[in-house]
Amino acid sequence: MNILNALVVEHGMMRDALDHLERVVCAQGSIEGIMGSATTLHHMLQLHAITENRLLLPAIRSVGDQGSDSVDLLFSHQHTRLDLGFSQLLAAEDVTTARAVCVDLLEALRTHFDEEEELLFPLAWQRLGEGLLHDLGRKWARSRHLIEGRVWDPRPSSQLPIEPPAEDRQLVRKQIGASDKRAGPTDAGGESLP
Ligand SMILES: [Fe+2]
Ligand SMILES: [Fe+2]
Repeated sequence: MNILNALVVEHGMMRDALDHLERVVCAQGSIEGIMGSATTLHHMLQLHAITENRLLLPAIRSVGDQGSDSVDLLFSHQHTRLDLGFSQLLAAEDVTTARAVCVDLLEALRTHFDEEEELLFPLAWQRLGEGLLHDLGRKWARSRHLIEGRVWDPRPSSQLPIEPPAEDRQLVRKQIGASDKRAGPTDAGGESLP
C-alpha cells in the first residue's frame, strides 16, 4: 500500500471523529463526554502524526533541498501545536472553557489536514517515487498490525470474537449472490468470495 493512501484514509476517519466531537459532543455534551471523545481523537492523531514524523517527513528531508526542509519544519511544527492544543482541551475544568478550546482546535486540525493534502502529499508523490512510498506503506501497515492486507490479531484464539452463526453467513452469501465453498455450489450461481 502507498503510504499516502493510508494517511488520507486516516484523515477521513479523523474528520468524521472531529465532526462528531464538534457537532454533537461539544454542542450538547457534558465535560465528561467532551473529554472522552477528545481523548480518543487525540490518540488517533498522535498515532497518525508519529507515522508522518518518523516515516514521511524524514524521507522528504532526505531529498535535501530547501523546499523539503521548509515542508518538514512547517508540518512537524503543526504537529507540536496540535498536540499542545489537545493538552489544553483535556486540561479544561469546565464545559464553557472546553467548548471554546474545542472550536479553535478543531479548526486548526481541519486546516492541517487540508494543507497536508494540498502541499505535503503532492510533494511526497513528486519527490519520493512510487517504490519508496510503497516501502513506507509497508512500515505503516506493520505499525497498525496489518500484514499483506490482512488484520493480524495478537490475541489467543480463545479470546477472539465468536464467529457469526452459519445461517447468518449463508444469508449474507445469498444476498450477494455468492456460493459457499464449504457447502458446495448453490442455486445462486454466483462466484465464491475470495
Ligand atoms: Fe499531520
Ligand atoms: Fe496527516
